[in-house]
Amino acid sequence: MKRIGVLTGGGDCPGLNAVLRAIVKTADEHQIEVIGFRDGFRGVVLNHYLRLTPKEVVGILIKGGTILGSSNRDNPFHFRIEKDGETQYADLSDQAIRHLEQHELDCLIVIGGDGTLSCAHDFIKKGVKIIGVPKTIDNDLSGTDLTFGFMTAIDTATDAIEKLHTTAESHHRIMVLEVMGRNAGWIALQAGIAGGADVVLIPEIPFCLDQVVQKIMERKNRGRHFSIIVVAEGARPQDGEQVVKRIVEGSPEPVRLGGIGGKVASDLEAMTGFETRVTVLGHLQRGGKPSAFDRILASRYGVAAVQLALEGKFGMMTSLQGWEIGAVPIAEVVKELKTVPPEGELVKTARSIGISFGV
Ligand code: F6P
Repeated sequence: MKRIGVLTGGGDCPGLNAVLRAIVKTADEHQIEVIGFRDGFRGVVLNHYLRLTPKEVVGILIKGGTILGSSNRDNPFHFRIEKDGETQYADLSDQAIRHLEQHELDCLIVIGGDGTLSCAHDFIKKGVKIIGVPKTIDNDLSGTDLTFGFMTAIDTATDAIEKLHTTAESHHRIMVLEVMGRNAGWIALQAGIAGGADVVLIPEIPFCLDQVVQKIMERKNRGRHFSIIVVAEGARPQDGEQVVKRIVEGSPEPVRLGGIGGKVASDLEAMTGFETRVTVLGHLQRGGKPSAFDRILASRYGVAAVQLALEGKFGMMTSLQGWEIGAVPIAEVVKELKTVPPEGELVKTARSIGISFGV
């Protein structure tokens, strides 16, 4: 093995740089060169790249974001191009493969979530040697207990819930916090448990606002004149739909969710008479330096990815299984999303400590 490529695709998250650093250091140990493609698969299509040596990764362990750049709107199989003042889409996957061949890469390490790994899977079907590393704050990738970036996002969301508590209590208000997570409620659920939320609304358990109102009134009757409601962006009422913020044409995952928090807040204010405010935590969940946990997980994933490449285990993704690092086929990972089991232990734990899911 002489040369490997690497890219970071999809929405960024804390820990990407820690993975890159681990890959470059491990590759260097084995005298393997590393080529880093810029902005995810976009860099492969356009052949935008840089050499990554140990010098390039000095000091990046604790830095958020990614030194390579990322994109969650470029799909090589449906690539956006501006032609004659018009936006068009074309399959440029063969052009991307030619670039990989020109660099004489022994394999490409793809650090990404569901959308990026689905593109990777399409390249695998065309014969490209790929190793995957599971990334996303959403923690919605199958085949791994945890994606890196998730635990840092939980810390950020938990901190927000704690801060909302003090102002909610002072003003006797309902505070609604909308968090990310797409079609999975992992962030809302785990931050809700860690931050002491009263209500958690997640996509996997469609809610009924009357039940949320009942919980708020029960609290009021116990002298608790404030409530904290954590809403996942993908949550929806039993008799309604998810709230879509925008459609990003050409993206591997075109639907961007958002806005349910504002809707829940205004409905609750009308139904309870409590003054209500909404906070949308947004991209703060993706920013900043990785937690110690994520630095360790990201480093383990980076080292394991190079080991898989050395062993010739192409088409596999590194994964956390309990406390061990293992590997699973990317073909299995992209089959279905990992969502919160509605009757699982975490939901039961939340219910036992008094959290309502609005049902
Ligand atoms: O997948 C990560 C994520 O942050 C989701 O939680 C969120 O729905 C989406 O990306 C937001 O995407 P964008 O950065 O395009 O707004």
